[in-house]
Amino acid sequence: MLTEPQKHTGAENLGESRSRIAARVIGRERELELALAAVAAGRDILLEGPPGTSKTTILKAITEEWGIPLFLVEGNADLTPAKLVGHHNPARVLREDYSSENFVPGPLVEAMQEGGFLYIEELNRAPEDTMNTLLMAMGDRAVSVPRVGRVEAGPTFRVVASMNPFDNVGTARLSQSVHDRLNRVVIGYQGTDEEERIVRLRAGLGASGAAGADDPLGERIVGDAVAVTRGTRTHPDVRQGSSVRGAIDTAMIAAQLAALRGLTDPVAEGYPELFHDAMTVGLSGRIHVDEAAETTPERVLREIWEDRFVLEPHAAAPG
Ligand SMILES: Nc1ncnc2c1ncn2[C@@H]1O[C@H](COP(=O)(O)OP(=O)(O)O)[C@@H](O)[C@H]1O
Ligand SMILES: [Mg+2]
Repeated sequence: MLTEPQKHTGAENLGESRSRIAARVIGRERELELALAAVAAGRDILLEGPPGTSKTTILKAITEEWGIPLFLVEGNADLTPAKLVGHHNPARVLREDYSSENFVPGPLVEAMQEGGFLYIEELNRAPEDTMNTLLMAMGDRAVSVPRVGRVEAGPTFRVVASMNPFDNVGTARLSQSVHDRLNRVVIGYQGTDEEERIVRLRAGLGASGAAGADDPLGERIVGDAVAVTRGTRTHPDVRQGSSVRGAIDTAMIAAQLAALRGLTDPVAEGYPELFHDAMTVGLSGRIHVDEAAETTPERVLREIWEDRFVLEPHAAAPG
């Protein structure tokens, strides 16, 4: 029997549902709309974008709105078909022989049974046979588990895969047959304004912090953290720069350093050095320097810092 994935049959209209989902996500209106349209149509999707571009945030918001679980799986060489589907508890099998009771479901079976989203990050890193298992499950909307039987997917089961376009591991392995079964939503880095709003919210600084709108130090930290993080993405010696996660952490570390050093004024003399310390901690492990460039993350960060704080200090000055 051929089972088609089903459209989401929410009672209320999709537009209202979209507004509630959008309230949980900063910006990303277009990406959210496209992803929502695809999953509401009963389709599986590939989210193609670098880390930190709101992929998980968007999926969490959709599944919370639909009231269904989101199962997160990292695609890597260890993701065997047995890990995805599940396995029989070996100790119990020795005692009781194989039965459906001693089967430990993997995320694919769980997502099917509960009608959830199965989110496989970096699908291109998963082994070939795991991808084939997944393709079968997507096509049939069911899996056959030896000694357990056939597991049918609930109507809201979806497969969502992600892929980082900067990744050079196994991207060729995402074969034509995989691409042919997935709808592709491309997600790029957020704009400056969106990143500042995300950092404000997640780091609890500026208008999002305890001090409220009147937090000039927090505002300066947010602006600087986003600017230098964006700088890592365009520096000629960097293969892949940092995501907004680096900006969030840099901002939080800078705020704590300011407290430790008793610095409350964004134009205080010690601020540039303080910020340099914070960005070294928050960003140096997050940038991948081009091997041919013969430089170091620290040196790259120093250059980005000099661009903002020495060469163009007016760009960083508040107001
Ligand atoms: N649009 C957004 N709204 C609110 N927070 C966001 C948004 N995008 C990213 N974040 C925050 O940034 C971090 C990374 O986002 P995430 O959605 O996990 O990225 P991805 O899954 O693409 O790697 C998380 O801490 C998340 O809270
Ligand atoms: Mg993610």
